[in-house]
Amino acid sequence: MAQLWGGRFTKQTDQLVFDFNASITFDKRLFHEDVTGSIVHATMLAKQGILTEEERKSIVEGLTGILEDVDDGTLAIDETQEDIHSFVEATLIDRIGDAGKKLHTGRSRNDQVALDMRLYTRARVAEIDGLLKKLLEAILDTMENNLDTYMPGFTHLQKAQPITLAHHYGAYFEMFKRDRQRLTDIYKRMNYCPLGAGALAGTTYPLDREYTARLLRFEGPTLNSIDSVADRDYLIEFLSALSTIMMHLSRFSEEIIIWNSNEYQFVELDDAYSTGSSIMPQKKNPDIAELVRGKTGRVYGALMALLTTMKGLPLAYNKDMQEDKEMAFDAMDTAADCITLFTGMIQTMKFRKDRMAKSAMNGFTNATDAADYLVGKGVPFRDAHGIIGRLVLYCIEKDTSIDALSLEELHSISDKFDEDIYDAISLKTCVEKRLTIGAPGEKMMKQVIEKNKEYLKNDAIEEYQQSLEDRLS
Ligand code: ARG
Repeated sequence: MAQLWGGRFTKQTDQLVFDFNASITFDKRLFHEDVTGSIVHATMLAKQGILTEEERKSIVEGLTGILEDVDDGTLAIDETQEDIHSFVEATLIDRIGDAGKKLHTGRSRNDQVALDMRLYTRARVAEIDGLLKKLLEAILDTMENNLDTYMPGFTHLQKAQPITLAHHYGAYFEMFKRDRQRLTDIYKRMNYCPLGAGALAGTTYPLDREYTARLLRFEGPTLNSIDSVADRDYLIEFLSALSTIMMHLSRFSEEIIIWNSNEYQFVELDDAYSTGSSIMPQKKNPDIAELVRGKTGRVYGALMALLTTMKGLPLAYNKDMQEDKEMAFDAMDTAADCITLFTGMIQTMKFRKDRMAKSAMNGFTNATDAADYLVGKGVPFRDAHGIIGRLVLYCIEKDTSIDALSLEELHSISDKFDEDIYDAISLKTCVEKRLTIGAPGEKMMKQVIEKNKEYLKNDAIEEYQQSLEDRLS
């Protein structure tokens, strides 16, 4: 049990109270950010004449040494300390003596933790964005190779109209593209430095907050010291974006589970991404897809937990806010793992193109096109809809499909049918004639793929970082 404070206390903290209050077991994750922030703080203090050059040098060397020693394993993070901030400061004082006691000048743990968490989150936003980019590359790759892989498109999980695998994957491309745009927005919006806000009301020391912000690669300092220590919006936004990413992954997983079922057999998962059953020898289960779908719940949980934690908090800092960490860390880890594993799974998964095309041929996915054919022959659409409806009924009774009917049989329902009906309702025609923007026709899909390739050449967060770098230097 070790703590930075105690001057005004006459009794020792109860051990249970100390343990309940302590956060080092999970905020030790912020070690690098804490040291980085402290080095910058000391640098700024020296520039402002609040620390001497000698003190600055001693502090920076001390902190750098602690960083190296923890990283190479020669120094263990001491979990009897209350939190990571206490550990770093206590270790520094232990190593360099009195100069170390000056590090916390003009700073509170409230703005310190606000900075650490922001630095940590900012890096993870960029990391998740990078993982999504790899997922998008994998999706685009499948799209390029499956422009004429026909499959049924569904509504209500009932076969609706024929599409291609490229087109179906294209839907997910758009979703994850939007997810990345959200991350870019969050990154930019959160990129302001809270350090220098003190406990809540700033400080009387002449801190140069612009300088601190610049050294830490922020857009600038936050503009209200109360908000600086009380704001967790950026984290809530990130958890919300992660929840949306998980929701998308979960929908995709659900489809893969369906496609992998014995009834569908559209895909075959790679052995490396499936598991067996301890009792049923025939089983090859889509566990990774199921786990991604299942883990979506805990990411939503983290978002709900933080929203609920924050909802009743008076300004400014309250200890409740220490609860912003564990579940958020878990959500970030979970989302990162899920994106990575999901990408591997779809990269190794094989498509049963024969089964997909066969499925698209059964189930009257060409019924709309058959109706459109009659419209082309001068039949009003509503009447054509009725004729094809009767035709479908006839097929169901005879257990056959529209394209398998003879011209005679077709004529028994309507004399508007000609020989050219077969070509008009073939899978290929049904897909290829759909050439409006966003439709599955190959020509249109190729244009979309080109656009997406262009999109993948640029990296919005990297570009932003670079532009910031240019502006700051
Ligand atoms: N462990 C604390 C947290 O995560 C650090 C800030 C402590 N500040 C305080 N006033 N007790 O929120």
